[in-house]
Amino acid sequence: MPYSQNYDVLIIGSGGAGLSLALKLANHSMRIAVLSKFALTAGSTYYAQGGISAVFGADDSIESHIDDTLDAGAGLCNPEIVRLTVTHGKSSIDWLMKQGVVFTEEQTASGGSKLHLNQEGGHSHRRIVHTADATGKAVSLSLIERAREHANIELFEHHNVVELITGSKEDDKRILGAYVLDSIKQQVRTIAARVVVLATGGASKAYLYSTNPQSATGDGIALAWRAGCRVSNMEFMQFHPTCLYHPHAHSFLISEAVRGEGGKLILPDGSPFMHHFDSREELAPRDIVARAIDHEMKKRGIDCVYLDISHKSEQFIREHFPTIYQQCLEFDIDITKQPIPVVPAAHYTCGGVLTDSYARADIPNLYAIGEVACTGLHGANRMASNSLLECLVFAERASEDILQKLPGILPLPEIPDWDESQVSDSDEEVVVSHNWDELRRFMWDYVGIVRTDKRLSRAMSRVELLKKEIAEYYSNFRVTSDLLELRNLVIAAELIIRCAQQRKESRGLHYTLDYPETDNSKPAQNTVLTPWPTDRR
Ligand code: FAD
Ligand code: SIN
Repeated sequence: MPYSQNYDVLIIGSGGAGLSLALKLANHSMRIAVLSKFALTAGSTYYAQGGISAVFGADDSIESHIDDTLDAGAGLCNPEIVRLTVTHGKSSIDWLMKQGVVFTEEQTASGGSKLHLNQEGGHSHRRIVHTADATGKAVSLSLIERAREHANIELFEHHNVVELITGSKEDDKRILGAYVLDSIKQQVRTIAARVVVLATGGASKAYLYSTNPQSATGDGIALAWRAGCRVSNMEFMQFHPTCLYHPHAHSFLISEAVRGEGGKLILPDGSPFMHHFDSREELAPRDIVARAIDHEMKKRGIDCVYLDISHKSEQFIREHFPTIYQQCLEFDIDITKQPIPVVPAAHYTCGGVLTDSYARADIPNLYAIGEVACTGLHGANRMASNSLLECLVFAERASEDILQKLPGILPLPEIPDWDESQVSDSDEEVVVSHNWDELRRFMWDYVGIVRTDKRLSRAMSRVELLKKEIAEYYSNFRVTSDLLELRNLVIAAELIIRCAQQRKESRGLHYTLDYPETDNSKPAQNTVLTPWPTDRR
């Protein structure tokens, strides 16, 4: 498809964050490009189940949502960012409804209707606005439809960013655009833009078992890191307690809302166990639930535990969880009659590219929004359903700053084309697939739910070997989508390990047997990594 290679704003990512920003900017006169490395629905947004947190309940309050978020974040949330985000909950939901998203409603006593609110772990009130158990699909499809209608937005599928382009002169170190692989045509193109926004999602694919789709390979984090931006809190990888355990099911999540509606976690003999770990039982924050499951599985040598909602009526289950019901049925599990086999899996990247309250990263005119960013909202542990809210709020914040800044941005200098004169086609693709598998397995074994210093240093030695091999491969062969993802994923893995090695305590999602207690002897510190010149390759 022919397209101009000059844009005002280049948005890398077509999930909730990227498309919301595109739509918020599009009514102002400007040209916007939105890229997705696969289809437009490829990101995590499409798969979100539980919903979006926002204060609507009569007994709920902004202060309560703030307190719950701070509590889950275990001392590392930025209170101003938490307040900013939570106070924009209602307006974010209103905006989505204006884009055509239809949320589940319930009847009021007076015969009217109001939003139905789910309950999830860590939330002291029902406050999750949702579309049955497929909220992300409803959000994603509406935003894509609106974006397709807009003349100022150009959408590019199967366009994978290879590298960000920054000014080379000391006095002009700003973002200039990106080199992008059109993976259908197998061509690298130069896209110049006055503003670039990373909206690339998280890095949970660094782990063997993950709830995330293929796109979650930490690309934005690695791109920003190589371009010279700071990255923060990468040790806080969140493991969702309940991913469907079945040999043919890949990455299918069983929403926390199932526990919110009374689902009980049980052992193979049918006995409950969460009361041994936390008084909130199944509704404890998910780090506690995931660790409890991991503990029981390791102690008993069992492959999974079970989540049982079968005590609810069939009608209730089919109405509230139609997607989960249907998906499990395809694997011969009738959740209205039998418990669901579940295991924890990597789910969410709390850390990422360090940004300020307007989503600005360290390089002038570069922004990061959504899961790729570390805004200070989640601290050491994200509370359920706060993430889609963050996507919407920071899309709004970035749009405000971009609109104000864009008129003053100087014209772009000449940008050299991507140089392929020194490379040939790869003759050993197996290197890439082997390294993919190896990386994800050792990250699961050594940098997972329970860590130790020894496991972390084992993982780091392997990362160093892989980095060398991948760098050599990258400099000799033409880039492919798989190679680009692997190259980014190994950086994301390195950053997770480096952050984990720096934290000499257990806090939130980071749990280590060598320092099992939280260090309360000094104020809690975020982990911030600054790239060295050698990291910029
Ligand atoms: P994504 O939606 O992940 O989109 C990333 C985009 O970036 C994609 O378009 C991808 O193609 C593109 N991209 C990535 N790398 C490149 C590259 N190199 N070049 C070009 N494009 C690139 N959160 C909640 O708040 N509530 C929930 O109920 C909920 N449920 C979830 C259920 C599941 C199964 C999962 C996996 C996550 C869930 N989350 C939930 C988390 C939430 O969905 C994500 O954090 C959020 O959707 C991230 O949105 P995003 O726009 O930042 O990124
Ligand atoms: C879920 O539905 O359990 C996922 C919610 C989230 O990750 O925020």
